[in-house]
Amino acid sequence: MNINTCMCLLNLCNINSKQIKDIFRFNITIMVSFNDLFTFVLMITSKYNIDSSHSEKHSMDVLHFADENYRSQLRDFPYLEKQKNVIYTASILHDMCDKKYMKKDDGIKEIEEFLKYSLKPEELHYTKRIIETMSYSTVKKNGYPDLGNYQMAYHVVREADLLASYDFDRSIIYHMNKGNNITTSYYNALDLFNERVFNYNTDKLLLSDYAQQKSVGLASNAIKRMVSWNRILQKTHFR
Ligand SMILES: [Fe+2]
Repeated sequence: MNINTCMCLLNLCNINSKQIKDIFRFNITIMVSFNDLFTFVLMITSKYNIDSSHSEKHSMDVLHFADENYRSQLRDFPYLEKQKNVIYTASILHDMCDKKYMKKDDGIKEIEEFLKYSLKPEELHYTKRIIETMSYSTVKKNGYPDLGNYQMAYHVVREADLLASYDFDRSIIYHMNKGNNITTSYYNALDLFNERVFNYNTDKLLLSDYAQQKSVGLASNAIKRMVSWNRILQKTHFR
């Protein structure tokens, strides 16, 4: 959709010309920084051979869940507005230091180098702290960190990553990239969901109303996908 079409649609919605200008100014401003962030994701993905389960599509999924979560909490926690850069940046970059693909410290250093001229020192500090402490395994081992005023931002990003993990195919893809065939990857993914993903709520890892409610639909979709994969793999000779 080009800008003229967008303008027409916004006019149809009774949005006046000043509001239209504000909307486009906002979009253009964040598009520049989003472009930088996703270019960095593509570069790191290529450098460290990060497979598609943890590359740009996953960054996009986490960004969208974090954005929805953030917006759902703005009315109760209006200070989050000032932490939006941190929430978006941490969401997009959070797996660019994943120890499954690189030494964590190397990844963090590259992220820091990349961000040091574009974020304020406080924003950079908390972006790094969120990324370093948000993974499922880190939380299981160490619990939640104390990030002071950024605690809510931390949970917004952390929960977004958990919500993205309800993607059953993504789990199959991860296991296939570790060298397993598709049937083994399917069973590995089933185990992961039964042992981990379906327990997020009972393990009290989803704290916000948004994440708890969202997880219900995502779990339902995951189960449908499991059933579908089971049918396909049972009836094919290509195993
Ligand atoms: Fe992730």
